[in-house]
Amino acid sequence: MDRERREFLWKGAMVTGLGALGAAGTWIFSDLWMAAHKFSSVRWVPVASWNEYPQDCVVPFPEYKMAIIKSGKRIGAISLECTHLGCLVNVGDRGFFCPCHGSEFGPWGEVYSGPATEPLPWYEIREREGKVWVHLGEKIKSPQWLEVKNEPQISRGKGAHEEKE
Ligand code: FES
Repeated sequence: MDRERREFLWKGAMVTGLGALGAAGTWIFSDLWMAAHKFSSVRWVPVASWNEYPQDCVVPFPEYKMAIIKSGKRIGAISLECTHLGCLVNVGDRGFFCPCHGSEFGPWGEVYSGPATEPLPWYEIREREGKVWVHLGEKIKSPQWLEVKNEPQISRGKGAHEEKE
């Protein structure tokens, strides 16, 4: 009787333990999957088609703290986060202006006047399937321009690889 009872309790404990292990594993796996999914979707963001930008313009995306700069046939993505204390800078006639403490930056983010001492950084940028994509994961020091040689083809919405062939 004692032996049967011990076996019963042992089997019960095993089933409960395996159930708890499975639940924990599922929770950890789903948490990791969600984190990976969020991570990948946050890093690259599409910011409209190439042909939606007028010639020689600065189009701010305050939600991403970033602006698209189109200059001739090249396009870049500059950070709008002030290098002094991180306020959102405004687009002005001469470049960028920080409303918090008055730092001024030139059209390519160079410091015109402080208190900021570092230029505005840039983001990696790509064209894919007719859209301009910006990599928000890491800021880079110098502009990375996306050169598009044949603008009308890109406006048809094909990928960069298809365009070149
Ligand atoms: S945060 Fe921009 S000047 Fe201070």
